Amino acid sequence: MSHSPAGRQPVIELDGVRKTYRTGALQVEALRGVNLRISEGEYIAIMGPSGSGKSTLMHILGCLDVPTSGSYHLAGEDVGRMSEDDLAEIRNRRIGFVFQQFNLLPSLSAWRNVELPLCYAGTGRAERRDRAIDALTKVGLGDRTTHRPNELSGGQQQRVAVARALVTDPALILADEPTGNLDSVSTGEVLGLLGDLHAAGRTIVLITHEPDVAATAGRVVRIRDGDIQDDTGPRSRADTEPRADTGFGSGGPAGSTPLAWDVRT
Ligand SMILES: Nc1ncnc2c1ncn2[C@@H]1O[C@H](COP(=O)(O)OP(=O)(O)O)[C@@H](O)[C@H]1O
Ligand SMILES: [Mg+2]
Repeated sequence: MSHSPAGRQPVIELDGVRKTYRTGALQVEALRGVNLRISEGEYIAIMGPSGSGKSTLMHILGCLDVPTSGSYHLAGEDVGRMSEDDLAEIRNRRIGFVFQQFNLLPSLSAWRNVELPLCYAGTGRAERRDRAIDALTKVGLGDRTTHRPNELSGGQQQRVAVARALVTDPALILADEPTGNLDSVSTGEVLGLLGDLHAAGRTIVLITHEPDVAATAGRVVRIRDGDIQDDTGPRSRADTEPRADTGFGSGGPAGSTPLAWDVRT
């Protein structure tokens, strides 16, 4: 596997990624040859106006969709050659997703929502409950575990979604406009949680169109009309270096388990 200039391994490598949507006779070039490298432990913001291809890019990064052409290597492995089982495993255990619309199931309590990724992963019932409540406690909702989404504020719902994203202890967190529906206080809380996750060693990709939100990341990439216009690169090595564990890890020393990428172990 190749190494980045800073000596850290690129966890994400996109080369010439194109995505064309075809709807009837209409064809939309959502991504037009994106090249992007993201190192382990980076906190990167992807900015761009509406329709510029941000969500398309996130779906590809999250193995929810595949490029029309070009390649995507995740932790050195060609995603285009992975089996459906490997991809499902990566989506369930290695990547945590946070969306603008929270995407919580309305009929389930907070902890039931948070345990869902563990159900797909086949974790036992008692452990699922413990880990879900632990994750909710970490996002400051230890006293809201049995509330349903409609009994929570928008900011609280998004914190439930963050708890759901981190309950599997993923190496990569993808957040698509996570503060787009939040007030400034809740925005600050959610960005604080993402900052903590980064400090604990996770790689974070934050999609936003708000400059204030993007400024919290160590690196800002601007996308326009499906291509990268500008990339600040990592601000400095110190900014991308995982700092002390803040409690989001699985108990081991900082940087041990969160970065375990091998999908076949
Ligand atoms: N599933 C889809 N089918 C057809 N066109 C799509 C689809 N998803 C997105 N697009 C189009 O691709 C372009 C990029 O969309 P998107 O990635 O959602 O942008 P952003 O997240 O930056 O607002 C837009 O022109 C959008 O209309
Ligand atoms: Mg979008």
